[in-house]
Amino acid sequence: MADRYLDLVNSGIGRKLAAQLGLPRPAVLRRYQPTDPLLPGALLLGNAGDGLPGLDDLLSEAGVQLRDTDAGNVRWAGLLFDATTVRTPQDLDAVRAFLSAPLRRLRSSGRVVLLGRAPDGKDPATDATRQALDGLVRSLAKELRAGATANLIQLAGAAGADDLDSTLRFLLSGRSAYVDGQVIRVAARPDSATVPADWQRPLAGKVALVTGAARGIGAAIAETLARDGAQVVLADLPAAGEQLARVANGISGSSLHLDIAAPQAPAQLIEYLQQRHGGLDILVHNAGITRDKLLANMQPEQWQSVLTVNLAAQLRITTALLEAGCLRAGGRAVCLASTSGIAGNRGQTNYAAAKAGVIGMVRSFAPQFAERGAAINAVAPGFIDTDMTRSMPLLTREVARRLSSLQQAGLPVDVAETVAYLAQPGSGGVNGQVLRVCGQNLVGA
Ligand code: NAI
Repeated sequence: MADRYLDLVNSGIGRKLAAQLGLPRPAVLRRYQPTDPLLPGALLLGNAGDGLPGLDDLLSEAGVQLRDTDAGNVRWAGLLFDATTVRTPQDLDAVRAFLSAPLRRLRSSGRVVLLGRAPDGKDPATDATRQALDGLVRSLAKELRAGATANLIQLAGAAGADDLDSTLRFLLSGRSAYVDGQVIRVAARPDSATVPADWQRPLAGKVALVTGAARGIGAAIAETLARDGAQVVLADLPAAGEQLARVANGISGSSLHLDIAAPQAPAQLIEYLQQRHGGLDILVHNAGITRDKLLANMQPEQWQSVLTVNLAAQLRITTALLEAGCLRAGGRAVCLASTSGIAGNRGQTNYAAAKAGVIGMVRSFAPQFAERGAAINAVAPGFIDTDMTRSMPLLTREVARRLSSLQQAGLPVDVAETVAYLAQPGSGGVNGQVLRVCGQNLVGA
């Protein structure tokens, strides 16, 4: 759906008018194109002491134009500060000193990435300093303009530069256009997770299942996984059959008519996947519904259907696939949650309960997945332009669109790119987490 306001304030007269009136000026975001470089310019790399071994090599191999001094006239495409060695509050001044001048010359859709270590409970001063980066990056993200984003990577345990490849590429590239003010924790990758031979097709040879794939975010996920090389099975309700076939045909995928809430759904799925593909590598629980009502007026059916489709079905299917050994070693599951499940939303007690439940489910499954060299994560979209949000009243929708640091709604592809990143073989160190795709939504947690 066209964002006419965004188009207007990016046109000559509109830009001037918005500046004079002090109106929000959302930027046209840089989004991923397979032929584009990771960053459209140079990246300034700094550190607070000894740099993380192997980080320079990793960035150079990814084709990043790396600089270690601020020439004073360069317009930076990215700023990366390695704060893995900070130990005391005084050490944090190095972050300020590194960022403050070059920030003024950050290009539109520029990237600021902080790299720290996760607090580990060993020393209060060290943990406090490491945690301080979290508040710093969330505030900085709110200060950036022109589509630029700031995010923090926390290395956990013994994780090193080798474990960062897919996460750094994601955050620096246009794939993360709508991921802002977030913290991604990266642990050491399980052994079976390998770096892809071809970064243009990191999912080559993988079989993926996407539920609710006939339209909206699910269709975008299916298309993005296929673009990245996966063979995709697209599942949706029989009533969505025609739309589903259209999306499936467009990416040479196969379509499967399936009500995920039906009692026989897990068995049906396992039979299909075992017979046709001998198993599954990437499971994307995307299908979801809303039945919004204030709790005082909520009918039992409205409550039950949302909890069943959005949560109980994900639980049953994931458990069944694991028990049947259908999800192969090194597998990935990505489950659609929502910022409503984190911050709450009026009229959505049923939906928010289900989506918060998804987050709990992912955290609880994570150790079982890790034992198999696999990983499970949740993606929590904020306001995304789809049929679901298109049905909102015009004014409410316009206001909701501006209530994020990026001052615009996300697109289905923004969620899809995040799912595709988590599905990559190299993302095995990211497990049991929730990654918000919300342009740093300003409302709620
Ligand atoms: P949508 O309503 O456009 O598409 C949902 C798809 O799921 C439809 O094709 C529908 O037929 C299918 N589906 C529904 N019930 C099903 C069932 N029982 N079995 C199989 N398929 C079923 O929704 P949209 O906006 O694309 O959302 C996708 C996911 O993202 C959902 O889980 C939603 O809760 C979540 N989300 C969406 C946000 C947004 O702003 N659009 C924000 C936060 C989360």
